[in-house]
Amino acid sequence: MSELIVRRLLVDMEAPIARHWCDGDPFRTAFLNALSMSFPVGEQFFIDAVRGGFKALPEQAQQRFQAQVQGFVGQEATHRRLHGLYNDHLAQLGMVNGWAPRSQARLKQLEGADPRHPLAITAAYEHFTAIFATWLLEHPGVLGKQDPRLATLWLWHSAEEAEHRTVAFDLYQALDGSHEWRIRWFRRVSYGFLLDALRQTLDNLRRDGTLWQWRTWAGAGRFLFGRDGLIRNTFGAWRDYFRRDFHPAQHDASASAAWLEANERQYVPVGRQVPGQTGLAAQQHRG
Ligand SMILES: [Fe+2]
Ligand SMILES: [Fe+2]
Repeated sequence: MSELIVRRLLVDMEAPIARHWCDGDPFRTAFLNALSMSFPVGEQFFIDAVRGGFKALPEQAQQRFQAQVQGFVGQEATHRRLHGLYNDHLAQLGMVNGWAPRSQARLKQLEGADPRHPLAITAAYEHFTAIFATWLLEHPGVLGKQDPRLATLWLWHSAEEAEHRTVAFDLYQALDGSHEWRIRWFRRVSYGFLLDALRQTLDNLRRDGTLWQWRTWAGAGRFLFGRDGLIRNTFGAWRDYFRRDFHPAQHDASASAAWLEANERQYVPVGRQVPGQTGLAAQQHRG
């Protein structure tokens, strides 16, 4: 696996978010906003799970994982911070995040569990994120042209999700996590994730006043089931996770590498200075 670099994204998260920022499409906007609402809590859980798994490894194995774990934690911490700023704008628009407190309550029940349980849950979510991320990177037009800043945010996040897709899975395997539990958690996570995403999307649409509009559901049909649609194009990759010999690296991540290479001006690798980089974006991503 290549080195996991932590990148500061040079986007201005101070500017407000338009009601239908995603291509003027209420459903796509509500769905992506719902996902964003889940990230600060979800990604903190992934960080804790990966740290917990790392601590449970024998010392020799820790050396092998150290750089990957550090990169994973740094990337997820940056994602959750920017999505936190994104979510503040959603609150200004009158959206109410019900997903985060529900997740928090559910995840609390895992306190004190064997570290392989939170890791299996994290690996399952990371599979979901990686296949969604790859689909988005391959269909960037979905994000529209109205808010290039948010399009960049989603594609950067996607690129890093695809990039670090093996970390939680490898840790789970290094701790002798069983296939049976991996699948059991994947089923539960799949069911829970779809239900949570649907519930928050519907709530966002209801508060937006577009829940009962025909265009909302016509857009949803195209987005989910169209020729290039999300479900149609990711179902096979989702199902691969059930295979006993599955490993996330079997899925192609070249779209991630290509985006990161083509968009080097959009971010700064942490720890490296960009001469003359000033202004709001640079200030925002310090600290
Ligand atoms: Fe992330
Ligand atoms: Fe991730």
